[in-house]
Amino acid sequence: MATILIDHDDTVVTLTLNRPEKLNALNAELLGELAAAINALPTDASVRCVIMTGAGEKAFAAGADIVAMSEFTPVQAKAFADLGHGIGRALEQLPVPVIAAVNGYALGGGCELALACDFIYASDRAKLSQPEVNLGVIPGFGGTQRLARRVGEARARELCMTGDTLTADEALRIGWVNAVVPAAELLPKVREVARKIASKGPLAIAALKRVIARGADVPLATANELEATAFAALFGTHDQREGMRAFAEKRPAKFEGR
Ligand code: CAA
Repeated sequence: MATILIDHDDTVVTLTLNRPEKLNALNAELLGELAAAINALPTDASVRCVIMTGAGEKAFAAGADIVAMSEFTPVQAKAFADLGHGIGRALEQLPVPVIAAVNGYALGGGCELALACDFIYASDRAKLSQPEVNLGVIPGFGGTQRLARRVGEARARELCMTGDTLTADEALRIGWVNAVVPAAELLPKVREVARKIASKGPLAIAALKRVIARGADVPLATANELEATAFAALFGTHDQREGMRAFAEKRPAKFEGR
């Protein structure tokens, strides 16, 4: 059975983590299939937005597979962490947005995958934590860094040091997730947001994603320069001319990604 399900509906691809009997715990097989699925996306120009979610009602992903990790040597643990980090980087470098639809537990590595997505919508049943300290380790797929950037360093320190689990509403309050939606409405709502994003100019969306991500790593003046350069480059595109012409003609724009 595939550990990643891929559903392509018009312009939106949904990737589903699929080991529901193990709460979608992330083993090397699942991570390998996920990396392959993500790496195949940029070759398909029809894809304008991606959704990542978990199979079953209980979990997005309850973390890295503890059974698989328990006998790791440091060298194996580093290779496993590199696999997770590679996926985080691949998600960030995709030219299209990725929305995490967190339908249940997002713990440890599961939460770290969600944090590498552009933003998170959570079901009202979701629970989020970085519980690695309970196992005598620390987050290994980027949680120490991305959680701090998402909710602030002091809150991230507290969450990672206590391993506390937050409800979806608590996570919403600190900006860990963008919205909380009744469980049955989560995927329809996320699909609606994905389709809205997919209807915008894809070159503008790709530029936005790149500028926001790269801008976070450099001084403000450099980040603003990145923005101005990307803004200017869009004026060489068909989509800019079409978008502004459509405004003048009072009709919806038809973007072509060129
Ligand atoms: N790894 C491996 N198997 C897991 C798992 C995990 N992270 N999480 C759940 N499972 C398995 C359980 O062992 C169980 O399998 P069996 O039926 O074969 O016994 C099955 O999934 C169902 O889980 P539970 O019976 O435990 O379900 P529950 O509802 O009683 O509890 C839970 C749910 C609170 C999420 C509990 O499963 C749990 O605490 N899981 C571990 C969470 C965790 O510590 N995650 C962090 C992992 S470390 C990490 O991710 C490192 C990193 O940063 C890369």
